[in-house]
Order: sequence, then structure tokens, then C-alpha cells
Amino acid sequence: MQRLTNKQIVLGITGGIAAYKSAELTRLLKGAGADVQVVMTPAAIEFITPLTLQALSGHPVHQHLLDPDAEAGMGHIELAKWADMVLIAPASADFMARLNSGQGNDLLSTICLATDAPIVLAPAMNQAMWRDPQTQSNATNLQTKGIRLLGPGVGEQACGDTGPGRMLDPLEIAEQTAALFDRGLLTGKHVFITAGPTREAIDPVRYISNHSSGKMGYALAEAALDAGAQVTLISGPVNLPAPPRCQRIMIESAAQMLTASLQHIDQCDIFIAAAAVADYRPSAVAEHKLKKGKEEIMELHLIKNPDIVASVAALHNKPFTVGFAAETRDVIHYAQSKLQQKNLDLIIANDVSRSDIGFNSDDNAVTVVSQSQTQPLPLCSKRQLAAQLIEIIAIQQAALSSDHTPMPEKS
Ligand code: PMT
Repeated sequence: MQRLTNKQIVLGITGGIAAYKSAELTRLLKGAGADVQVVMTPAAIEFITPLTLQALSGHPVHQHLLDPDAEAGMGHIELAKWADMVLIAPASADFMARLNSGQGNDLLSTICLATDAPIVLAPAMNQAMWRDPQTQSNATNLQTKGIRLLGPGVGEQACGDTGPGRMLDPLEIAEQTAALFDRGLLTGKHVFITAGPTREAIDPVRYISNHSSGKMGYALAEAALDAGAQVTLISGPVNLPAPPRCQRIMIESAAQMLTASLQHIDQCDIFIAAAAVADYRPSAVAEHKLKKGKEEIMELHLIKNPDIVASVAALHNKPFTVGFAAETRDVIHYAQSKLQQKNLDLIIANDVSRSDIGFNSDDNAVTVVSQSQTQPLPLCSKRQLAAQLIEIIAIQQAALSSDHTPMPEKS
């Protein structure tokens, strides 16, 4: 069920006794890493309380089409756009009929009309209702329109009948739902990304820092999430919101970034150091604001900061480790020496002498440098570049880890 990691699922619940199973389904989808927003029809509320689904999904349950509060926040169009999939379980005979005829007379049917995401139904109804020619025709038409049906199962029903019409078990629905998603390149992988600048305090009001905006690191975090990874973003002070679905740890100094990076490093498969870390910090931080003296020159005594990416790459069980090299001249040459010195698997050479790329710009152009090759990636937005970089990193990490997989022992 790893394919559910980071997936955004609208779970529609319609009226039927099987609605009680939707609570377990919500729990399973959440447990597999999906973000679940529940939409209930008025009939569903007769069978299970919205409060239960709210507690299990971690979001308010959506019920009304014409709710001014909801429309201002997560209204039907927002939910339709938000969804990677609309899963309706249980789907009643009435709902299937309304969906087939294109009605938009409640929140759930309107979302189905408005969404571009795949729609999946887990039908649940009495066996005679399922066998009814009109329901069968609706089911066939819906499938012709590209809507997928999971089940129904056959067996004893709540009404005492036996036959087809049972909603599949929640675990079966969750597994089949997971199988419908493409496997992302980084599904099942945990990626740590450092981003932004560090600030090295001189006194309570002054610090040493640099021009990093965090845009490159945050774009990498988004791209890794899109590729199905679990992402921990260790960020210096920036003016960017945390990408949804990632764990963000805010830090100030290089020492704090090192601590945050190493804290759960045993869970990390890929470490990407996009942060611009100060190489030096003041050897002592003044307790009070330094006063201007008579002297024309003021000397600051600096000491070296720990090298975060090199510390990660020096670990016994190191993750696949990727650095950036921000250079203003001899870019590839310096990147190659940092690759060696820091024991990295890859380094991204970034010419920061240009104002249209590198620090604080929306675009970038880089060269990917490994032990064996250099690959230029031409100018494009940081978002587009991040997607290309994540693909390269994922492929190289997979190749390296399959090289390191022990051969099965001969019998
Ligand atoms: O944040 P943006 O405005 O979007 O700009 C993006 C960027 C230019 C900051 C980014 O693309 C970039 O090049 N980041 C690396 C900047 C840098 O500090 O490069 P460096 O050559 O000094 O360091 C080499 C590598 O060692 C980097 O991966 C750096 O994160 C890491 N390092 C450096 C020093 C240190 N004490 N610890 C480290 O981990």
C-alpha cells in the first residue's frame, strides 16, 4: 500500500448499512500515508456520524453543497481539484443512478462532475437491487465512462439475503485503491532535504548569513513528494510556506541544521543538501548588543562550522548523498573536488555568478556531476529543474542500492 503515500483522496460515503465500514477504510488509507477528506451524503449521516469520520481523517467532514463557510474554504471545486482520486465507498444504487445521469444535486455528485481525478466506486446494496437491470445498466455505463468499480462482493447481507451486493472489506478496497496509483519513482523512500540559508549569530541582533531564498530546496521537496517520497525538509529562515504533506524542521544555525539532519538519519534513504550553510561562525556570541566603539576597524573572530553533508556522507550506513556546489568560477572543477572531498554520490554544480540563476531567482541551470560523468541541465524554472533532478537522483540511488544488494546465497 506504499503507493498511497502522499496521495490526496476524497472519500465519498453514501447511505447504506456498509457506511460503518468506511471508518475502518479511512483508518487504513490514512495509515498507508494518504491524506483523506471525507464527503458524506445526507443519507450517509443516518448510518454513521460525521464526528467519527472527522476524528479518523483529521479533517472536518464535508456535507453541504451550499455551505458559505465551506465554499470559502474547501468548497466543491477546491475538493474536486485537490483530489488525486475520488473513492466512493459505499456507493448506493441511488448514487450510481445519479452519477450515471450526470446529476449535481448534492456535494458529492458535484465533486464527481467537477473533478479530473479518477473516480472509483465500491458498490453496496441489497442483492436484488444490484441484480436489477437498471442498476446493471448504470454500472455498465459508468464503467464505459472510465469509472472503476471495486466489487461488489458476494455473500450474506445485513438484510438476511445472500448474493452479490456486499461492499468489499475495507482492506481489500484500500489495497485495490493503492494498486490503481502509478508507482512513483521514490515510493517508499524517505528523503531529507536541507534548504535556505543559515544564520550565525554575532550578538542578539546581528548575524552572518547569505542570499539563499530556499526556493531550490523547497522545489526539490515538492518534486520528491510528487514522486511518492516521504520528505523531511530541514530549513533555514525563509519566506516560503511548508509544502503540504512534508515534515518541516526550522533551524537557524549550521549547528542546529547538523543536529536536525542527524536526528533520524537512520531512516533516511536520500540526503540532498541544497542549503547554503555558513562555512564559519563567530567564535563567541556576545550576550548583549555590541556597542559602536571609537575604533575604525572591528575584528570578528570566526571558527569553522561542521560540514553537514560531509558528516552525513561519512556515516557507516550513509544514505545516497547529494550536495550542491555554489561557485562563481571554475564551477565544474570545484564541484568535482567537493564530490571527492565530501564523499558524495552526486553533486549539482551551480554557477552563482549569474543574477538570472542560483541565489534567490525563480530559475536555475546546473550541471549534475558524478564520478563518471557530467550532465548539463539547461535554464528552466526551479520547479521544472527539481523534477529533473529528482528523477536523476531516484534512478541513480536505485541503481546503487541494487548494486549493493547482497547476492542470494547458493543452496
Ligand atoms: O535557496 P535559493 O535562493 O533557491 O538558491 C539555491 C542555491 C544557490 C542556494 C542552491 O542551488 C545551492 O547551490 N546550494 C548550495 C550552496 C552552498 O553552500 O554551496 P557550497 O559549495 O558552499 O557547499 C557545498 C555543499 O556542502 C552544499 O551541498 C552545502 O549544503 C554543503 N555544506 C556546506 C557547508 C557546510 N558547513 N555544510 C554543508 O552541508
